[in-house]
Amino acid sequence: MLFYIFEGADHPVNHQKPMRTLKVIPLILIGLVGLSAQAQTKKSVAKTKTATTAAGDITASAKRGQVVYASNCLVCHMADGGGVPGMNAPLVKTSYVLGSKQSLINVLLKGMQGVEIDGEEYRNVMPPFTQLTNQQIADVLTYVRNNFGNKAPAITVKDVAAVRK
Ligand code: HEC
Repeated sequence: MLFYIFEGADHPVNHQKPMRTLKVIPLILIGLVGLSAQAQTKKSVAKTKTATTAAGDITASAKRGQVVYASNCLVCHMADGGGVPGMNAPLVKTSYVLGSKQSLINVLLKGMQGVEIDGEEYRNVMPPFTQLTNQQIADVLTYVRNNFGNKAPAITVKDVAAVRK
């Protein structure tokens, strides 16, 4: 293309070639812009799709987790996750709830007793919950991590399976 333009400039007498070239260039440019716009749209549509699916997964898991929470945890940690001072630890922004997935999963699989949590001690005993399935543990922890003012990535069945082994 460039070759033609320069050739045209070199021969000002020849009006035909540069004219044709000048008509072709905009067409090619429009084509390129169109193609890249199309690619961009496809990309952003794909991105939005993944984002919604991930958010949907968390919501669905947390919803199931709420049921698990009501029948297994609420009696000690209370409906608002506030716990009972000196008795049962709160589940609001504690280093366990927001911290490493592995140690959080282990709290449920092994239970907890006499451990100081963020500078506070609790008299009651947290029993182990090995009777829950990996799915139930993933769901209840995802629920806890995204409620009571908490915001942390979901816990998946895979995460639980890796710790339970
Ligand atoms: C019988 C009462 C009881 C039940 C039921 C119970 N917990 Fe606990 N939980 C405790 C106590 C007490 C502690 C603190 C133990 C310690 O300090 O050593 C605790 C600690 C925790 C911790 C870690 C510390 C923190 O506050 O972040 C998490 C997370 C937790 N519990 C989640 C749960 C979940 C989820 C369930 C339900 C599947 C549940 N617990 C059921 C009493 C209970």
